[in-house]
Amino acid sequence: MEFCPSVYGSIVKAARAGENSRTMPNKDVVIVILAAGKGTRLKSSLAKVLHPAGGRSLVEQVVVACAPLKAKKIVAVIGHQAEQVAAALEPHDIQTALQQPQNGTGHAMLVAKRALGNAKFAVVLPGDAPLIRAETLKGLLATHRSGHAAATILSVVLADPSGYGRIVRKSETQVGAIVEDSQLTPEQRELNEINSSMYCFTLAKLWPALAKVKPNNKHREIYLTDAIAAMASAGETVLAQIVPDAQEGLGCNTRADLADVDRIFRERKRAELMAAGVTIQLPETVLIDPEVTAGEDCTLEPGVQLLGKTKLGARCKIGTGSVLHDAVLGDDVAVRVHSLVEESRLEDRTIVGPFARLRTGTHLKAGARVGNFVETKKAVIGEGAKVPHLSYIGDAKLGSKTNIGAGTITCNYDGVNKHQTTIGNKVFIGSDSVLVAPVRIGDGAYVAAGSAITENVPPDALGIARGRQSNKKGWAAKKRREMAAGHVQAKPHRRKVRKAKKRRR
Ligand code: UD1
Ligand code: MG
Repeated sequence: MEFCPSVYGSIVKAARAGENSRTMPNKDVVIVILAAGKGTRLKSSLAKVLHPAGGRSLVEQVVVACAPLKAKKIVAVIGHQAEQVAAALEPHDIQTALQQPQNGTGHAMLVAKRALGNAKFAVVLPGDAPLIRAETLKGLLATHRSGHAAATILSVVLADPSGYGRIVRKSETQVGAIVEDSQLTPEQRELNEINSSMYCFTLAKLWPALAKVKPNNKHREIYLTDAIAAMASAGETVLAQIVPDAQEGLGCNTRADLADVDRIFRERKRAELMAAGVTIQLPETVLIDPEVTAGEDCTLEPGVQLLGKTKLGARCKIGTGSVLHDAVLGDDVAVRVHSLVEESRLEDRTIVGPFARLRTGTHLKAGARVGNFVETKKAVIGEGAKVPHLSYIGDAKLGSKTNIGAGTITCNYDGVNKHQTTIGNKVFIGSDSVLVAPVRIGDGAYVAAGSAITENVPPDALGIARGRQSNKKGWAAKKRREMAAGHVQAKPHRRKVRKAKKRRR
């Protein structure tokens, strides 16, 4: 959608009317989300309203947007893939009404009627236009109340209005009808104020108007938009409030629309974090989910993804290409380039990566360090402890100031069960050791490099478990001399040896 500059200036003030209104509960208001349609133009086996944009399904984004209205209740009309849509809405405090079959937006409202109880007003929103802001909806409601209207439509002025229902005004302030794109006269086709499909209705005026609406269109559907003309011709007040930011009316009918909406949500989220004191390098490459928080002076390098409920303390630095999912970071944490952190807790001053993979249940205590090509899972790494390179630490607990040499592996799985490795404080594990769990290494112990530890190592002991080395004096020099003199015969081919043995038998 694009702004139509000629009218933009004059409409901003009107639509911002409700922006500063206090968020008092709107006990006389219900919200109806129309979410029963299929979304044929997406060409998808998934219902349109379940497609994600900006880190949530479309319908959930709408629920989040209207929650600040503090309405009496939210009712979602569901139909296509009703079970899945209801499941997506399960975490939210909303009611559903089943529309089967889906006979149009007006029919959807009639289906919801019983669930709306005795509320005075209904704010109606489509489930596929998630960029709407709570402040805009508050403004819509304020205009509706102060104008004593039967209906107030949220409209958008577009440079290219094709495809949308058009607002046909009967005076400067009053609307006479909404005419769907397919039913426009040539003069009406020139109108560029469109119906966003978001409305506020006085329910006592809507029901008699909707009762008059007939399915007089090629889809044989009952259009909610036709109730507007019915109200206007009955002499009721119908207003249209132009939303200043045309993006807020953007619906998702195609994959391209979905991509646009996702991009706008991501932009909004980055702007929110930048306003809160976060530096984002090449912002358009950084993806941040809606519930992510970050403290002051964090830096996100290009290509970072912060997903789920990730929380960053102050002054964290997240390196290029790193992905954090449900990670909780303290202050001054450094996640270096191309690291993956999932469902893990990183306390203050911890350092991760580059190229580290921290899986579910990793907990780095203050000042701990996990370096390159290290994988951890259900692992507590003690204060100041280090796992600097090339290790797998799973189902393990490491004490403070312990050092794990390169290539150390905790063998946590015996093919059937997982077992625990417990390593005390100030332990030194030599490189390339395997610790076969269950096993305990006591405080202050050493494990010799290259050991396969299968038994507990007591505190302050040295655990050594490898073949003893013997040096054969002069062996290499002798071999070289023999080879140079051509004394060393090439070994006969194995098959030939086997054949010769057979013959002998
Ligand atoms: C609708 C409006 C049009 C407006 C446009 C804005 C009507 C007749 N037309 O058209 O004026 O410009 O939105 O995007 O209302 N739905 C149901 N049950 C149904 C049919 C639809 O719940 O039986 C839901 C859909 O899931 C969707 C919403 O209503 O979330 C709007 O339906 P959609 O088919 O997208 O309407 P448009 O053709 O976009
Ligand atoms: Mg639509």
